[in-house]
Amino acid sequence: MSSAYAYGGKSQFPPHKFVGILETNIMKALITGGLGFVGSNLAHKLASIGVDVTVIDAMIPDLGGNYFNIDKIKEKITVIEGDIRDKNIIEESIKHKDVIFHLAGQVDHKRSINRPYEDASIRIDGTLSVLEACRKHNPSAKIIYSSTRGVYGEPKKVPVNEDNPTNPLVMYAITSLAAENILKMYGKFYGTKTTILRLVNIYGPRHQMKHSYGIANYFIMQSLSHKPMTIMGTGKILRDFLFVDDACDAFIECSKNSGTDGKIFNVGSGKGTSFIELANEIKNATDGKVNLVKYTKVEKQLEPGNFIADITKITNETKWCPKTKLGDGIKKTVDFYNKNKKHYW
Ligand SMILES: NC(=O)c1ccc[n+]([C@@H]2O[C@H](COP(=O)([O-])OP(=O)(O)OC[C@H]3O[C@@H](n4cnc5c(N)ncnc54)[C@H](O)[C@@H]3O)[C@@H](O)[C@H]2O)c1
Repeated sequence: MSSAYAYGGKSQFPPHKFVGILETNIMKALITGGLGFVGSNLAHKLASIGVDVTVIDAMIPDLGGNYFNIDKIKEKITVIEGDIRDKNIIEESIKHKDVIFHLAGQVDHKRSINRPYEDASIRIDGTLSVLEACRKHNPSAKIIYSSTRGVYGEPKKVPVNEDNPTNPLVMYAITSLAAENILKMYGKFYGTKTTILRLVNIYGPRHQMKHSYGIANYFIMQSLSHKPMTIMGTGKILRDFLFVDDACDAFIECSKNSGTDGKIFNVGSGKGTSFIELANEIKNATDGKVNLVKYTKVEKQLEPGNFIADITKITNETKWCPKTKLGDGIKKTVDFYNKNKKHYW
């Protein structure tokens, strides 16, 4: 955890280059977990609008970190390979940043059960480490944290708004909720500016394709590998799937809007899609097939039932709204992996 190196350089774009809807007043941003799926897509967007981007990632084996994710922007951003739990590295990394997008995490539900200490350490120690570094060396920075719809557990009713009680079912979501509460505490005691985004199921380019988490990408991987998409149960349970570009826009929108300080927002499409409907969309873009299988015991225990995010709060309080239709997002994702399969399989 002690070594770190950086490559790349400062943005070649002037920091005042503002473009369209994503125009921003952020000059310098740090993305923790920035070589992973969502973080690297965010790095692309921020770099494209002239933000001076640094990413920090520990490249923990079997998580989503992949240097190919930032290959096209590696000359425009600074990359630090290091662990956010390393005090020296994080203290250096957060200095002079306007915004910290805190996305470093372990996202595999099953792994979080099998390796609970790892999960707790990354989420809780890692989040504390970012917060303490900011408190001491950059108290004016805003921190935007990527939490999960998993904190709600089995929702009382759908669509699920932010007032729904939290009742996480699995270690990953329990530690995410703990991190949320720590962020809230720093807001209250130290005035740290924090925004919590509870993400639904995100899909799109640059997701790892070796493991079964991230169900939409997993189905795409199965289809492009000429295997049937394995749907558990009847496939009628609903989920909310959001294209990664839309998720990144929500991070950027919240980063420039001081009205989001101290608040929690759901980030989703606001629409329910069954696993069968998802598979049908993937079939339209591939020659995929479906195989209905029985739930495993663990998957049954983890199944929270239907989930649709109520996104009224974020769409009322910011200019953000989801733009990408599921079919279009799936097609873009399939195109990406058709071109870049060798970097992800
Ligand atoms: N992808 C989704 O559908 C989804 C849904 C809800 C919430 N989220 C949250 O969004 C965040 C990003 O998810 P993702 O899908 O991009 O995951 P990912 O695995 O692709 O990326 C996470 C990155 O964090 C890095 N990382 C982990 N621990 C670290 C540490 N201690 N120090 C530095 N880097 C570390 C990993 O190496 C990895 O590259 C996560 O916090 C996740 O919980 C994602």
